[in-house]
Amino acid sequence: MSKEYKITLIPGDGIGPEVTEAARLVIEASGVNVNWEVVEAGEKVMEEYNTPLPNYVLESIEKNKIALKGPITTPVGKGFRSVNVALRQKFNLYANVRPVKTYPGVKSRYTDVNFVIIRENTEDLYAGIEHKIGDYAAESIKLITRPASERIAKFAFELAKNEGRRKVTAVHKANIMKFSDGLFLECARKVAEEYKDSDIEFEDVIVDAMSMKLVQNPERYDVLVLPNLYGDILSDMGAGLVGGLGVVPGANVGENIAVFEAVHGSAPDIAGKGLANPLATILSGVMMLRYLGELEAADKIDAAVTKVLEDGTKLTQDLGGAANTSEFAEEIIKNL
Ligand code: NAI
Repeated sequence: MSKEYKITLIPGDGIGPEVTEAARLVIEASGVNVNWEVVEAGEKVMEEYNTPLPNYVLESIEKNKIALKGPITTPVGKGFRSVNVALRQKFNLYANVRPVKTYPGVKSRYTDVNFVIIRENTEDLYAGIEHKIGDYAAESIKLITRPASERIAKFAFELAKNEGRRKVTAVHKANIMKFSDGLFLECARKVAEEYKDSDIEFEDVIVDAMSMKLVQNPERYDVLVLPNLYGDILSDMGAGLVGGLGVVPGANVGENIAVFEAVHGSAPDIAGKGLANPLATILSGVMMLRYLGELEAADKIDAAVTKVLEDGTKLTQDLGGAANTSEFAEEIIKNL
């Protein structure tokens, strides 16, 4: 019998239960032995526990050290800040890793995109240091620290080294935010110095210019390292370059805990209709398998996904097909 993994599974809100169920079935069919600990968070537990993030969720992640998570709805402008931000801060999941690449058969203007976004996940404007100044104004503080900036830059270079990537691009707005983004850039440059004997090239680009360059020539980029907010925005833009939010996976990685989840949110507009593309969550599961060292199973799923996309007959609507969420997942399972 192969090794059993105990993994926390958070179905989440909106399309979360549909896409996490699809990912669970695909992972199980790949032959990896998982004992899932399913814990509910988000809107559906809010009333009973008076929080979308009850303690049992935190305890489960703390114990298992690894989770696959569906998206969770965040109220806009009021209420609980964000379960996602809270989880990242609680477990110090400092690196948000989001590979953006073109898959064959997925409609996109580009053919050769393959970069990975490394987003700092614990500070910047997401630290939640904000207050109202009477009725007249509101202030949010952008916190950037040296340890977090050096740590994320190092993570980006290590990932580049391990994956054989050729370039790290630090993205910032240090021309305007001379202190906060200036510090982020200073730290990225310092870490780049430590890797100057490697073959990894380093450059920095201002975030507005980066947005244009990514649309014009996304294939030129390899590893992007960004503070939290720019990383969040460019992740969705990256998704737009390669076929939409339905295809881009992600991981939140800390020292010894990791939570895997798609870039997309709970998509309330399509929830419960079988329209959700499960691929982003399935690919987040593939990232999780690689993290666990289950490389054979990860490669197997990746190959099956490629076959199903190339074949093109069982895709969800966002990819131009007519299949529903589970038909798409079943087709991947058939091709394993
Ligand atoms: P969203 O990503 O949920 O949806 C944006 C658009 O993309 C919608 O039209 C949606 O139908 C489509 N879409 C997203 N995922 C899809 C999929 N798998 N297949 C097909 N179409 C898909 O972003 P939105 O609407 O801004 O956010 C909805 C809620 O999700 C909010 O409460 C937000 O705070 C939350 N959210 C949660 C995240 C998380 O838990 N990690 C991440 C992002 C947003």
